[in-house]
Amino acid sequence: MQASLEMVKALLDPGKKVVVLTGAGVSAESGVPTFRGKDGLWKTYRAEDLARPDAFAARPELVWEFYNWRRELVAGCEPNAAHRSLAVMEQQIPNFLLITQNVDGLHARAGSRKLVEMHGSLWRVRCTACAHAREERAPLPPLPECPVCGHLLRPGVVWFGEPLIPGVLKLAVEQLGHADLFISVGTSNLVQPAASFHQLAKDHGAITVEINLEATPNTGLSDFALHGRAGDILPELIAGMTP
Ligand code: APR
Repeated sequence: MQASLEMVKALLDPGKKVVVLTGAGVSAESGVPTFRGKDGLWKTYRAEDLARPDAFAARPELVWEFYNWRRELVAGCEPNAAHRSLAVMEQQIPNFLLITQNVDGLHARAGSRKLVEMHGSLWRVRCTACAHAREERAPLPPLPECPVCGHLLRPGVVWFGEPLIPGVLKLAVEQLGHADLFISVGTSNLVQPAASFHQLAKDHGAITVEINLEATPNTGLSDFALHGRAGDILPELIAGMTP
């Protein structure tokens, strides 16, 4: 792997356009459970069965309990070396974009600013009835109400079967179309549309890199597959770059 790592390092040129996609694996070393790993269960529920509009409509108290548990858990976690390395990369590469599927806010806390949170944020809430939406870090009641209209609030995240936040997909596709280097980190590449970003970047001529503990459906599309912990590999990639 060392040879591949050195080659990817050489590709991290400030003159290049670099797009990075991250998933839950980038936060695993901070103590945030991934979705499909062995810790991907909450009580007896799979996250995929709760992160859905129909689940919220049927049992809002259960879905809010799940999100309040995640908010509390993430509030006790710190960004790790992988998050910090990506923030350094952004500072050293002017033409850089970080697209994350994570809703934990740890990239922003590590200092990333050229950041698209494509699945929203655990720290946002929005009304199910009116346009009220806000950032809310304080603990929430079991069924939080909208201060404007009194209807139920919901987490400001994108659930299965819901469209992305307007403009996000367009921006991602535009940026991927111009990328020289695409790096995917810590995602199982099983959830669309992010799972297609690798192919899209490759089709437009980008060199593609995967960083993951294990192979994913997109490993075969990768010019370089770096298998190991994101918190070990990313610091090595940026070694020599100064923040
Ligand atoms: N370093 C690198 N990769 C890791 C690490 C680590 N320390 N720990 C775990 N991984 C990898 C796993 O091997 C797995 O491929 O991270 C990936 C995590 O995959 P998922 O749990 O499926 O997370 P993700 O790909 O982000 O899920 C996508 O699905 O449930 C929805 O909306 C949710 O955004 C999420 C989306």
